[in-house]
Amino acid sequence: MDSIKVFSPGSITNLSCGYDILGLCLENRGDEIKVSKTSSKGIIISTNGGYNLTNNINENVAGIAAQAMLKEIDVNNGFRIEINKGIKPGSGIGSSAASSAGTVFAINQLLDSHFGQLDLIKFSMEGEKYVSGSYHADNVAPIILGGISLVRSTDKIDVVKLPSPKDLEVIIVRPNIEIKTSDSRKVVKKKVKIEKMVKQSANLGSFISSLYTGDFNLMSRSVIDEVVEPDRALLIPEFDKVKEISKKNGCIAVGISGSGPSIFSLSNNRISSTKILDSISNHYEKLGISYDGFISKINSQGIKILDTK
Ligand code: HSE
Repeated sequence: MDSIKVFSPGSITNLSCGYDILGLCLENRGDEIKVSKTSSKGIIISTNGGYNLTNNINENVAGIAAQAMLKEIDVNNGFRIEINKGIKPGSGIGSSAASSAGTVFAINQLLDSHFGQLDLIKFSMEGEKYVSGSYHADNVAPIILGGISLVRSTDKIDVVKLPSPKDLEVIIVRPNIEIKTSDSRKVVKKKVKIEKMVKQSANLGSFISSLYTGDFNLMSRSVIDEVVEPDRALLIPEFDKVKEISKKNGCIAVGISGSGPSIFSLSNNRISSTKILDSISNHYEKLGISYDGFISKINSQGIKILDTK
């Protein structure tokens, strides 16, 4: 195989009760990445020109992740990485993760799957560290593994793939502003009161239980964030109102997607999902706030191969 094209999807992380450790892979919205072998060694990046992304391999997350990977293997050729961005950077649905994970996944295919999934998570995380300032695998893990995942450790990567209840789906609404992950992480308080730690741990445990049992009422009581959301919500236009609208229209839960500004709602039926999306859209339209909104099932496969040559 000399070249491969993949679809690398978006993701929702934190899911309110699991800051930096929970993530879910989306069906739609993602980057298309083509990687081809080149005869001379090294990496070349070209992007589709959108979003002012750099082609500098030391500043583009795809280049950073690819270099981390190629440090660990001797290869006689190089790679050309062509990125067609489908996710706007700074949107809260894992734009950088899609580029870095999609790239290392594609290169690994050209290396006859030399590396395992946990290695790919480790390499992709270098891209995440570059853009956000800290190692977190909650976006890259579900993209690589598919479905919903829990990152137990990033020191020595340890990730648990969790079940996705059949009817679970998400509604994403992204007010059209950019929030850099590094900025959004700065507003997160560094110390948490023990009472909040107890509540958050209880909610995380019961959320995970709800994934195994499909108990959506328990899920609704668990997807709560008293630690990070109150501070980050201030960065997102109309967050409290959107939350209220989503709840009024029957969502299971609602919260900030990753570092924002996207807002996710969980639902277990398409009629509610459509009602939730329409009602939030109406609200933003009334206020003249530009936004993007969509509904997605959980993507159990993760990165998909589109074409090989
Ligand atoms: N868990 C991370 C955060 C995801 O909330 O900052 C950002 O990509």
